[in-house]
Amino acid sequence: MGNVLLTGDRPSGQLHLGHYVGSLKNRVQLQDSGEYECFVLIADVQALTDNFEAPQHVRDNVYEVALDYLAVGIDPARTTVSIQSLMPALSELTVYYLNLVTLARLERNPTVKAEIAQKAFKGGVPAGFVCYPVSQAADITFCKANVVPVGIDQLPMIEQTREVVRSFNGIYGEVLVEPEALIPADEKSQRLPGITGNDTKMSKSLGNGIYLADDRDTLWAKVRQMYTDPGHLRVSDPGSVEGNTVFTYLDVFDTDAAQVDGLKEHYRRGGLGDVKVKEHLFEVLDVELAPIRERRAEFAKDKAAVLTMLREGTDRANEVAAATLREVRAAMRIDYFG
Ligand code: TRP
Repeated sequence: MGNVLLTGDRPSGQLHLGHYVGSLKNRVQLQDSGEYECFVLIADVQALTDNFEAPQHVRDNVYEVALDYLAVGIDPARTTVSIQSLMPALSELTVYYLNLVTLARLERNPTVKAEIAQKAFKGGVPAGFVCYPVSQAADITFCKANVVPVGIDQLPMIEQTREVVRSFNGIYGEVLVEPEALIPADEKSQRLPGITGNDTKMSKSLGNGIYLADDRDTLWAKVRQMYTDPGHLRVSDPGSVEGNTVFTYLDVFDTDAAQVDGLKEHYRRGGLGDVKVKEHLFEVLDVELAPIRERRAEFAKDKAAVLTMLREGTDRANEVAAATLREVRAAMRIDYFG
């Protein structure tokens, strides 16, 4: 069997720099290597588990995420991009997999737990939300993916998928493939903080993100607001680079490590102002983001073409899913009419 890659994103907002270094860069590289059959899923059903009251928001962001994909170099000729809700096989697989997972296990998923704590659902936690890792197992297995490039917050989902696969194969026979997560090699890229400080992950709800679609002025405004060292009051004061978001970003984005070391040394010693370092970071980020921004604007000129890409990708993904579903149904003895 060949190498199959699948990953996905919730269309609950545009994609940001955290997605970019945490997962998008990796997947484009793997796509370009030509060694994988690639699938990327826009997980609108999953987005609805915590945005069920905001359907238009999810709908709008399906298109925004598709633009983000094209902008970073996901190439529809090499990667099948599909919309989760238009793949009925995924709902069906989810229902079968739900028998293979206990409620207690679902409640133990650390990422789901953290999200529940952060979101404070009024009126209680929707059952669909607690079960989304099972629907994610359906996402990953419909194409028998063996590699799943994701950020580290997704490791518990991959672990749960592996458990579902083992359980399924153990009961019904070897049909599904156990996936491996693929996370960025360097630790700093794994959890890019938001602009407000190192202990917060970049996220839409916290309003601390830098988006791939942000224009130059917005980028500068955000870099200027970035959390640094609150004790670094005068330029001449010695400053701390640990926990200083600007330096955390430079570690990730500035390819000239020696230069970053020089700046750190100067900052620690005193005499290097925050604005100077921020101007440097802004330039570094803009070099990376300007071409993405331009490609995004180019693709945005033809919405119909983006929708066609999604329709064709979804059709192709549905064919693959239907084949897996046939095997699943046969293994589960529910293929009554052959
Ligand atoms: N849970 C992922 C996120 O929040 C999105 C996702 C949905 C996904 N289906 C997936 C990721 C399948 C990897 C594989 O970002």
